[in-house]
Amino acid sequence: MSQQRPKPSVAVTGASTGIGYAIARAFAGAGYPIAVVDLDGATAQDVATTLTDEFGVAAMGIFADVADSDSSRRAHEKIEATLGSPGVLINNAGIMQQKKGWIEELPEENFDRMLDVHVRGALVWSKLVLPAMRADGFGRIINMSSVNAVLAVPHRLAYVTAKKAILGFTEGLALDCARAGITVNAILPGYILTDTLAQRAQQGLLNKDDYNERTPVGRWGEPEEIARVAVFLADPASSFITGAKFVIDGGLTIRGDAGEDIEASPYA
Ligand SMILES: NC(=O)c1ccc[n+]([C@@H]2O[C@H](COP(=O)([O-])OP(=O)(O)OC[C@H]3O[C@@H](n4cnc5c(N)ncnc54)[C@H](O)[C@@H]3O)[C@@H](O)[C@H]2O)c1
Repeated sequence: MSQQRPKPSVAVTGASTGIGYAIARAFAGAGYPIAVVDLDGATAQDVATTLTDEFGVAAMGIFADVADSDSSRRAHEKIEATLGSPGVLINNAGIMQQKKGWIEELPEENFDRMLDVHVRGALVWSKLVLPAMRADGFGRIINMSSVNAVLAVPHRLAYVTAKKAILGFTEGLALDCARAGITVNAILPGYILTDTLAQRAQQGLLNKDDYNERTPVGRWGEPEEIARVAVFLADPASSFITGAKFVIDGGLTIRGDAGEDIEASPYA
């Protein structure tokens, strides 16, 4: 049973743009106080102002490198002083693989940075918010993985490794927190058309139609389609859902290969 309680504050990392921005916006629309955390602190502040203007919620934008303990601790202190320590944490900040290719061509520093941002970042921020969550007997941690955690792709070894590691982190932490009223879950998006990727398509750096074709429902996902799952998971009534993987991919990961040519359906 869910109890009536004031909405906890929500910290979304990597929320200046893309999926994180859509998540921050969806929580603001649902009346949650929001901390927009990003490497791009100036844009994070602009986003916070927009959310307050549009939805009338308390919001703050703040700089942090999630992989860096000190800047993250300072950001968390400011959030705690202004909005209260977050009762909902969305570990969303992420980077794309800088150099694609075989393992022989992958600089160790790039591999380290990939794991630092995605995995260490989730650890750093979970450690910051957990004491207050435990004291409160309530918490929601949502980690952004990817379909590439369950469907590996060539030439992206660092990214695939990081996104799979997030699943291990999610499951281990879910068990460690299971009796404390704190749930920990992972979202695995498929191809989601953020502004950044739309721009890359416009510049001819990726073929949008190719991804439409590869996705069984025949289109890219929208950032808002990920955000609504995060809001659902944060609800007090979602307390039995923990250690789970939410694959939001338009059917991408369930499609096998029949090993023969199949004509397009005449019924579509
Ligand atoms: N877009 C997709 O198709 C897709 C698919 C699967 C998974 N994802 C995952 O979803 C998350 C968001 O992806 P997106 O497409 O919105 O990316 P994006 O590049 O549009 O936005 C990422 C945001 O994270 C911030 N960021 C990067 N490194 C940071 C750091 N060290 N500290 C703080 N902030 C940092 C960036 O400044 C940016 O605002 C990522 O974890 C990504 O791996 C995206």
